[in-house]
Amino acid sequence: MNKVVNVFLGQVPCYTVRTSQLCVGRFYGTAGNDPKIPKNVIEHLNTAQEQQTNGVVYDKKPFRMELEEGKRYSWCLCGRSKGQPLCDGTHKLVQYKITQRPIRFQVEKSGTYWLCNCKQTKNRPFCDGTHKCEEVQKTAGK
Ligand code: FES
Repeated sequence: MNKVVNVFLGQVPCYTVRTSQLCVGRFYGTAGNDPKIPKNVIEHLNTAQEQQTNGVVYDKKPFRMELEEGKRYSWCLCGRSKGQPLCDGTHKLVQYKITQRPIRFQVEKSGTYWLCNCKQTKNRPFCDGTHKCEEVQKTAGK
C-alpha cells in the first residue's frame, strides 16, 4: 500500500513522494507549494544522461551544495569518487572496470541544491527521493 508523504531535508522542502515497498510508483507533486525538481540545463549537450546503468550507492542521503549559475560541474555517477558528489576521475582507472561516466551539468540559477549521492536518481544529478527506497536503504553504502 502506497502512502503520500512530504519530504523535508533539513529546512528545505523537497517534494511529495509516494512511498512503496519497491522503487516504483514515486511521483512528485506539481500543485500548490511543491517545489520543482531542478533540471540539468545542459542535459541536451551530452549523451552521458542516456547511460543505462547506475553506479554503486555511495551514500543513502543526498548532498546539499551551493552551485553557481553558468558554472559547469561534473557529477560522479559511478559512486567511487573520493570527492563526492563530484567526479574526481576515479572512473578512468582501468583496474576498477567502471563503465559509468560522469554527468556534466549546470544549474539555471545560483543557489542551494540537493545532489544525489545514492547514484540511483532518475533525474541526474539531482536528488529525486530514490534514496528513500528500501532497495537503497538496504545497501552497504554510508
Ligand atoms: S569518479 Fe565516478 S564518475 Fe568519475
